[in-house]
Amino acid sequence: MSGKKRVAILISGRGSNMTALIEAARNADYPAQIVGVFSNRAAAPGLEYARAEGIPTATLAQSKFETRLDFENALTAILEGWRVDYVCLAGFMRILTREFTTRWLGKAINIHPSLLPKYKGLDTHARAIAAGDLEHGCSVHFVTPGLDEGPVIAQARVPIQPGDTPEVLAARVLVEEHKLYPRALGMLAAGEIALDTGLNKVRPLDA
Ligand code: GRF
Repeated sequence: MSGKKRVAILISGRGSNMTALIEAARNADYPAQIVGVFSNRAAAPGLEYARAEGIPTATLAQSKFETRLDFENALTAILEGWRVDYVCLAGFMRILTREFTTRWLGKAINIHPSLLPKYKGLDTHARAIAAGDLEHGCSVHFVTPGLDEGPVIAQARVPIQPGDTPEVLAARVLVEEHKLYPRALGMLAAGEIALDTGLNKVRPLDA
């Protein structure tokens, strides 16, 4: 009987962060196992990798559902079927309802390519360059009803170099994302951090 936490990953596209999590979870000492990968796009390239790894996958097209909530309820049913403890959003390009985020509060985390609370939403790299920032990075945070607003679990920083394009900067950040996300999930699955749902902030479990 494995004591590892059961984790599902939600993707919409490339899935490089998903791959980093799957690779980390291959380690016998890692406290989480990836038990399923879900995509809202059947053509998401990341699904192929997951299937090749023998990980169950599922897809649902939002267009087949009358409401956003119907779609999310079907997604929750899939996640419950996989008996997941935690959900990792990794390039999942759907805004989630308050109902869904409340159902998974403290259980769902996301990776965002900025040093939150800076640059919520899209085009983070271009915005950091346009602002003249000297550094940029990525954050793993708990998923709460507000977009990219949940408490931050961990961050990694990179310098912004003169002449950086958004693409060059994105690639530099992505290298850090692939290290940060497995580390943050590991902390969560090991019980080293938890969302304090009363105070809406992160606290050490034994504090
Ligand atoms: C990453 O930059 C992640 O931070 C953002 O979307 C991108 C997904 O890339 N949320 P990938 O699908 O993990 O390669």
